[in-house]
Amino acid sequence: MTSLLVRALKREPIERYPVWMMRQAGRYLPGYRAVRAKTPFLDLCGTPSLAAEVSLEPIERFDVDAAIVFADILLTADAMGVPVAFPAKGGPKLTNPIRTPEDVERIHEPTDERTRCVSETIAILRKTLPASKAVIGFSAAPFTLCAYMIEGGSSRDFQLTRKFAHAHPHAFRDLMARAADALVPYLKEQIAAGADAVQLFDTWGGIGTLPLAREVVLPMARRVVEGLGSDRPPVIYFPGIGTAARLEDALETRANALSLDWQTDLADAHARVGGRVCLQGNLDPTLLLTTPDQIRAATDDMLARIPAGHAHVANLGHGIIKETAPDNARAFVETVKAFRPAAPEPA
Ligand code: CP3
Repeated sequence: MTSLLVRALKREPIERYPVWMMRQAGRYLPGYRAVRAKTPFLDLCGTPSLAAEVSLEPIERFDVDAAIVFADILLTADAMGVPVAFPAKGGPKLTNPIRTPEDVERIHEPTDERTRCVSETIAILRKTLPASKAVIGFSAAPFTLCAYMIEGGSSRDFQLTRKFAHAHPHAFRDLMARAADALVPYLKEQIAAGADAVQLFDTWGGIGTLPLAREVVLPMARRVVEGLGSDRPPVIYFPGIGTAARLEDALETRANALSLDWQTDLADAHARVGGRVCLQGNLDPTLLLTTPDQIRAATDDMLARIPAGHAHVANLGHGIIKETAPDNARAFVETVKAFRPAAPEPA
């Protein structure tokens, strides 16, 4: 039996929309917090039995349609020569960032001791879950990975990254190509271990100019997608926050699905690109900080904007927020599962 998620991603007929939540395994869950109280973040990522346990918590609690492997997009930065630490406060820190064209030379192919744990966790998940539940692997997309490697951590507007791309276009392209070529074997290993689909997170892919997106950001994401080969499982691409106006451009990545931020109108997105790819999203994660009644109404409104017969995966427009009450996440998932898409018009 093919999972509902994979059927939707392949744009096959489905009886209801599949649902999962970006960052669904995290600090809003009591089980996750209990594990983290005893285990530093990188040790958790590096211990497949524990990583599998926290990946499964959202399935056990909410019966979502997919588990996403517990890991982080920055594990690959570390494996490529830019060490990453996850201090208790202030977000990830990359201690030796890329600031000059010469720095790009030290980016090497990923060593596998930081990343092998990810495919080992996927193998446990695939063995534990029934075929009806999909296992999602993931990585950053090249731009978002490079943005963290240049910036050295989270940033409001990624000025250093944007400046680097303008000041050193050749070195920037070289860095992006190295990132893309590192991500391909990493994702292939996840697929070989049992990932039914993979998501490329380009969270900051919309931060630069339109020419940068068209000339580098999206072509390098495409290089990853195509690097996975023609027999690859479905790929979901999250083009990033603020990219509603660039959805046609994002089709160039050749991903099977585009994941939409919360600012994008679903009816508009489906009219523009939804006939050509599956779409995913896009409830505003701050709605999950309100009440179950409000969440149910907003979720029904959101799903009602999808045209009959169009492929869609219900999700949030970005990662779940750590203050979210688990019962509010449950209200979202249950509402999606109760919603029945309208039958397509007969041809
Ligand atoms: O979706 C899942 O449940 C799987 C696990 C997952 C994590 N990070 C675990 C994590 C996934 C898919 C990610 C992706 C990720 N990581 C992204 C892309 C998606 C997005 O949210 O935009 C980004 C930008 C990162 C980088 C990152 N990792 C940041 C900025 C932070 C600190 C901020 C934060 O949310 O805590 C992390 C740490 C991190 N990665 C945590 C988790 C559960 C929190 C660590 C903890 O304190 O326990």
